Amino acid sequence: MKLSSCTILWNREVSHGYYHMGLDAPDRYTRALPGQFVMLKAEKGGTLLRRPFSIHDVTTNDGKTIVELLYKVVGPNTRVYGEMTAGDSLSLLGPLGNSFTEPAPGESTFLAGGGIGIAPMLLLAKRMVSAGANPSNHTVFIGGRTREDALSEAAFSALGFPVVVTTDDGSYGEKGRITEPMARLLEEKNPAKVYACGPHPMLVGIAGMMHGHPALCELSLETVMACGMGACMGCVVESSSSDAPYKHVCIDGPVFDARSIRV
Ligand SMILES: Cc1cc2nc3c(=O)[nH]c(=O)nc-3n(C[C@H](O)[C@H](O)[C@H](O)COP(=O)(O)OP(=O)(O)OC[C@H]3O[C@@H](n4cnc5c(N)ncnc54)[C@H](O)[C@@H]3O)c2cc1C
Ligand code: FES
Repeated sequence: MKLSSCTILWNREVSHGYYHMGLDAPDRYTRALPGQFVMLKAEKGGTLLRRPFSIHDVTTNDGKTIVELLYKVVGPNTRVYGEMTAGDSLSLLGPLGNSFTEPAPGESTFLAGGGIGIAPMLLLAKRMVSAGANPSNHTVFIGGRTREDALSEAAFSALGFPVVVTTDDGSYGEKGRITEPMARLLEEKNPAKVYACGPHPMLVGIAGMMHGHPALCELSLETVMACGMGACMGCVVESSSSDAPYKHVCIDGPVFDARSIRV
């Protein structure tokens, strides 16, 4: 059982209702893969069941391994996390799940995050750069309902990635859906891989747009989870294969080839 009690190093509100948290974590997290997640539980307060959160980044400082999370306050657990401060502890189970298929040298990619779905894309972008990728061959798409929901632009820009931001209400970036600039740039940029995480309608739109395109399209799903370990069936999604009609997001995912599931 990969369970650890981790001390919070910082917990800052970065946009209305969105927090960026750093946790002093065991060294094994330096081997965490982009797309993997942790199951979190506050040591005081919150519910009995853990909640899943993507690993946003893993950094090191002063000999410490720091797991960074980006989360939105939506319910009883995230409300408790939002009130926690440096020195408080959280219990982490992880790293769990599979990971994105990183690009081969020379391949270009699209990284798309809608709202809090941008969380797993930063570690992916950083690992691509560490593996020698030229950020200018890749494009990051950040979508939000409003300006407050379009997160992490500065972090991707600082790494050198071109970033396209869309908001539904036009309060920042292009007005409209994230799929609009993606579709527009698909032919010009010809990505070999498209990675996406975000609300279900966004994933449906991206899977539809990529249908019949030769690029590998990987979707990271944020379904409700209870156990995180394949035991409860709480997270299943329909598979597109008749041999195995369901897949567990917690152990078969959270990252799926868009062709392998029914979104
Ligand atoms: C693999 C994975 C990675 C995730 N990564 C992140 C992350 O990096 N940052 C982040 O903020 N959240 C992430 N989530 C979603 C997060 O787990 C939920 O928001 C969490 O359940 C909130 O806990 P809560 O107790 O505060 O609210 P809950 O009581 O669990 O939920 C409050 C409300 O939100 C709804 N809800 C809960 N989870 C979801 C969901 N996944 N999709 C749509 N509605 C939901 C519930 O139905 C309820 O109405 C991830 C989920 C998965 C499966
Ligand atoms: S969360 Fe329990 S089986 Fe996936």
